[in-house]
Amino acid sequence: MNYQDIIRWLKCPPGPEVYPLRDRADQIRQQYVGDAVHLRGLVELSNICSRNCLYCGIRRDNQAITRYRLTADEVLDCARKAVDFGFGTLVLQGGEDPGLSKDFIGELISLIKSETNLAVTLSLGERKVDEWAAWREAGADRYLLRFETSNSQLFNYIHPPRDGHAPCDRISMLKTLQSLGYETGSGVMIGIPGQTYEDLARDIELFGELSLDMIGVGPFIPHPQTPLGAGQVSDAGIDQVPGSVEMGLRVLALARIVCPGANIPSTTAFATLDRQAGREMGLCWGANVVMPNLTPLQYRKLYEIYPSKAASTETAEESRDAAFRQIEHLGRTPGSGRGDSPHHLQQT
Ligand code: 5AD
Repeated sequence: MNYQDIIRWLKCPPGPEVYPLRDRADQIRQQYVGDAVHLRGLVELSNICSRNCLYCGIRRDNQAITRYRLTADEVLDCARKAVDFGFGTLVLQGGEDPGLSKDFIGELISLIKSETNLAVTLSLGERKVDEWAAWREAGADRYLLRFETSNSQLFNYIHPPRDGHAPCDRISMLKTLQSLGYETGSGVMIGIPGQTYEDLARDIELFGELSLDMIGVGPFIPHPQTPLGAGQVSDAGIDQVPGSVEMGLRVLALARIVCPGANIPSTTAFATLDRQAGREMGLCWGANVVMPNLTPLQYRKLYEIYPSKAASTETAEESRDAAFRQIEHLGRTPGSGRGDSPHHLQQT
């Protein structure tokens, strides 16, 4: 699959002409990672964020939301639920909250690891190397950091650097995470205002070049309380990618083809845009992971990175039941154990 092939699939008209892409991705998924769908319990640790990303609902300047941070006890309750529910992994995700300190997160990882056999995935944004190293030391297994777009001009525009700091380089951060021994995941949004098909094709090539263990992608969903809330492109005349489920599924399939042994979730953005079928479609276009939400219900609605996020009013039990039902409906099986990425296992 070279750059030109990727462009051709991204630009091919919707309908039967694109089905061979889905079929190929599904076949590669089956061959490399099998029919098991791994379940990850998602815990949204904190919606406090020091960054001001132009697209994200929990950006610093959004004063319309109530901010929260879970206590260690609340997180441990989620971990126990994950074990009860038969999940193999706990994903701790949060904004770039200075209150999620090196020590707090380190202790949290140690507590979870001493009480359970769960794999621990962190998704806490751009942090210092000594924090990443300490968390790995404490037992964290995986780290997710999407590079969002490989177009550095667009990246710098939507991620204003911290005051007095140079623009950040997530590609080199991903390499650092890999060198620390993390199972490393990244990904992009599809349909960022100003993103072209050429940008997106380059993103997909980069998944392969970075040799990722995990890839998470999803359509961009405009959030009205952000500068990109209108979802419109000021610069008319560019070859703008749509933030549709349709386009997102193609990217998911292409990600599976360039990284056959990676773990790839059917992300919440798909389920948000198509509540009926979004998650199942992701699983048919190359995904092998789902991430039911375990965040305590009173905080769910506050982690609104985009509006009307799926599962924002559902209990942990309801999220679990829906996931199992969908897996069964597709004739697939819930994964057992930690569900490490076959790509990572092969390399270690
Ligand atoms: N639409 C879609 N995805 C979003 N994310 C953040 N804001 C939005 C949005 N408005 C995604 C980013 C981030 C992940 C946790 O959520 O890709 O890495």
